[in-house]
Amino acid sequence: MAPDHADLGVRLVGEELLVPCLDGAERPYLSLDAGASTGALPAVAERVQAFLPWYSSVHRGAGWKSQFATAEYEHAREAALAFAGRPGGGERDDVAIICRNTTEAVNHLAYRLRFEPGDVVVTTVVEHHANLLPWGRVASRRYVECTPGGTFTVADVVAALDAEPRPRLLAVTGASNVTGWVPPIDAIIDAAHDRGVPVFVDAAQLAPHRPMPVTADFVAWSGHKMYAPFGAGVLVGPRTAFADGDPFLAGGGAVDLVDLDEVVWTDPPEREEAGSPNVIGAVALRSAIDEMTAIGWDRIVAHDRALAARLRDGLAALPGVRLLGSGFDDVLPVGTFVVDDVPHALVAARLSAEHGIGVRHGCFCAHPYLLRLLGLTDAETARYREAVLRGDRRQIPGAVRASAGLSTTAEEVDRLLDAVGQIASGEPAPVAYDQDEHTGDFWPRAASGPWSSADRSLGASCARG
Ligand code: ALA
Repeated sequence: MAPDHADLGVRLVGEELLVPCLDGAERPYLSLDAGASTGALPAVAERVQAFLPWYSSVHRGAGWKSQFATAEYEHAREAALAFAGRPGGGERDDVAIICRNTTEAVNHLAYRLRFEPGDVVVTTVVEHHANLLPWGRVASRRYVECTPGGTFTVADVVAALDAEPRPRLLAVTGASNVTGWVPPIDAIIDAAHDRGVPVFVDAAQLAPHRPMPVTADFVAWSGHKMYAPFGAGVLVGPRTAFADGDPFLAGGGAVDLVDLDEVVWTDPPEREEAGSPNVIGAVALRSAIDEMTAIGWDRIVAHDRALAARLRDGLAALPGVRLLGSGFDDVLPVGTFVVDDVPHALVAARLSAEHGIGVRHGCFCAHPYLLRLLGLTDAETARYREAVLRGDRRQIPGAVRASAGLSTTAEEVDRLLDAVGQIASGEPAPVAYDQDEHTGDFWPRAASGPWSSADRSLGASCARG
């Protein structure tokens, strides 16, 4: 029998949980928010549980447990390097710096590369904020624009690389967190290298779905998007990039010698990891890497492609639904859409309260990209901007994103399509929904039960940029 690519048979911790809906029924919670955070793989949770009795200080103790915890931490570092395609003993002398997540990794790298204000970093309008804002603090940014469909070509990147002044770095995403578009990253890296420009790839979205771009000079990703939600992420790059100068964080563990007015920093990667390391996060990350390696990229990619087609074709076929982004040669199982005449925040609230489905809505921490995909005019942008500055977030433009992962099945995609279809067809909500001016979020007007107004926590926005 041919393998069913649409169901890998993977289940995540907590997927059996029921959640309350407005009709009084409880439904199995369907998370279609893998692009934001994934649940833990059972093996990851078990590995963490098994490690906990052995938990101890890392790089800070002579005791047996400290030795064991330190070894586990260093094994995780080796696993991260191998996952990034740079196993120990290879020609490249790269280091894996264990940090909190991709955002921290990009901030870390931006600090470490020691750009001058006149230096240029080429980046793209497709990036999420973590691959835009840190570069703006340390250099001038030159942007690669996108088409209305949300893509750019290698030639577009080349044009930005060839402009004067010559850039010091290309910082580009491996896959969009908004549309799921996978740019031709290997060709882009080659083009930058042909011009002597090093490349940082933001692999936050790519890592759970595709092999890493091994030729990138720097790469970063997050455990919480790849089934290891215990607070660890990774920045990988050449050891030489971290060998001189001040580390991003100053403190214990990063030094060889300290006097009251002197410090001698130690060697990377420890130089970059001041403070007690997150060994639990590292153990979890290694376990997730082991699990994904055991499943294998062939099966993961086949699963992604089957789900991406079902999700995206299904959304595009629904009357009253507009799928954002087009012209993709490769795309993750992500469908970002708007429903005619229904605010994105209301669609997301109804999917949750009426159907037990968790999605993300808003601008997905990628405002410039989303404004382009929505095709907003300058006047429309100015209007909502002025309202936000007044503290009124009700008109913030946005979309709804359904993003799938290892455990998602074809039936679950169909459950989403049914629910979105009902909302888009104009089916009335069972109760009225109120919109919070401060957050822009909607909440059902229910006097009692699990969705009662008393349970609503005002000001706890679910769509921060
Ligand atoms: N974590 C962000 C997302 O949900 C960037 O896409």
